[in-house]
Amino acid sequence: MPSEHAGEWALDPAITFLNHGSFGACPRPVLEAQRRWRDRLEAQPVQFFARDLPGLLATARSDLGAFVGADPDDLAFVANATGAVNAVVRSLRFAPGDELLTNDHEYNATINVLRHVAERDGARVVVARVPFPVASADEVVRAHLDVVTGRTRLALVSHVTSPTALIFPVDELVAAFAERGIETLVDGAHAPGMLPLNLDRIGAAWYTGNLHKWVCAPKGSAFLHARRDRQPGIRPNTISHGANAVLGGDGAGETVRGPGRGRATRYRAEFDWQGTLDPTAWLAASEALRFVGGLVDGGWPEVMRRNRELTLRARSAVAAALGLPENSPAPDAMLGSIVALLLPTSGPLAMAGAGSSPLDTDPLQRRLVDQYGIEVPIYPWPVPAASSPDPARRLIRISSALHNGPDDVDRLAAALDELGSASGRPT
Ligand SMILES: Cc1ncc(COP(=O)(O)O)c(C=O)c1O
Repeated sequence: MPSEHAGEWALDPAITFLNHGSFGACPRPVLEAQRRWRDRLEAQPVQFFARDLPGLLATARSDLGAFVGADPDDLAFVANATGAVNAVVRSLRFAPGDELLTNDHEYNATINVLRHVAERDGARVVVARVPFPVASADEVVRAHLDVVTGRTRLALVSHVTSPTALIFPVDELVAAFAERGIETLVDGAHAPGMLPLNLDRIGAAWYTGNLHKWVCAPKGSAFLHARRDRQPGIRPNTISHGANAVLGGDGAGETVRGPGRGRATRYRAEFDWQGTLDPTAWLAASEALRFVGGLVDGGWPEVMRRNRELTLRARSAVAAALGLPENSPAPDAMLGSIVALLLPTSGPLAMAGAGSSPLDTDPLQRRLVDQYGIEVPIYPWPVPAASSPDPARRLIRISSALHNGPDDVDRLAAALDELGSASGRPT
């Protein structure tokens, strides 16, 4: 059965698109909303940037805050999660011998950021080894706590991991690290729109999420949330006017700047102006929240439930095609709207040449798109930046979004069945 919602997206109907996770996909009405913002910007750029934008950003932050369970004043719009991780980690200073803790399920680019700053300061990156397949969320917590030392200063963990698509127990991790005096940066690139969020309850020092993935906002829409006590000193990657802007008010950075504009802090002032850029993807995020949440009765909780249900179906169908156990690779509770499964290490599907990022393409990935019109990513795990002593395995990662239906999953399972059989279809 095709998805009854597929027509709302601009995706090519000739392609079975099972890779919502890498870059998201934006519905047409949301792109139209972005176009309207652009028209308004271009009609009077000075009015838009100099006079209207602060209030417009405050409204967009307020809509976002209600969705992710955060005070809007603690949220800053950024272009993407990679940029937010850069802003936080590069703003921090470490002493020689300090340890930056992460794990081997993290995204290649964000581990690179840790390595860059560790090299700058003479610190060390410690990579916890989390099993895959994984038996429980407790295993994830234990793998991290086993490598905490008195020198651990920062932990970087994903809410939903990129190569392995697992929901990590971030509430427990943040609390366990906090008990040991360690601040956490949560990489929630996949979480908004996939999982219900309450950032104030999670309580991480910093949390970043993409809106262009599962919220289906236009590309370049993401946020950084900084806990109030960890905002000072966190600076955007672009230093601009906010660095010496007069904050006004009582000088404590606590006063309200104007109607609907929020608290006048250095954090706000710096992140709200990162040079001239196109802010329309941020402004259109409100329409994405409204439109996608309005596509099904029951709103966002139902969107998330439906996507997860299709993921569990994809897990069973593809696991069967690959000869894996039905409950691969994790308990149901650790799966959201993506699932990653190990490809065989021998036989026709064991093609060599896996890359390291979503921009590289594995030979099987290429074959699925060229021969079957199926777009689905295949990643190496662990990623190269994890510097694992183990050889990388190949994972196929299937996304289930509202534009997907059961027939997309069935097509993939049938293609893998065919390619995995001795002959496969001729290329
Ligand atoms: C866990 C994780 N972190 C960071 C990113 C990077 O997202 P972006 O390219 O939007 O910065 C991704 C993208 O897939 C991801 O899965």
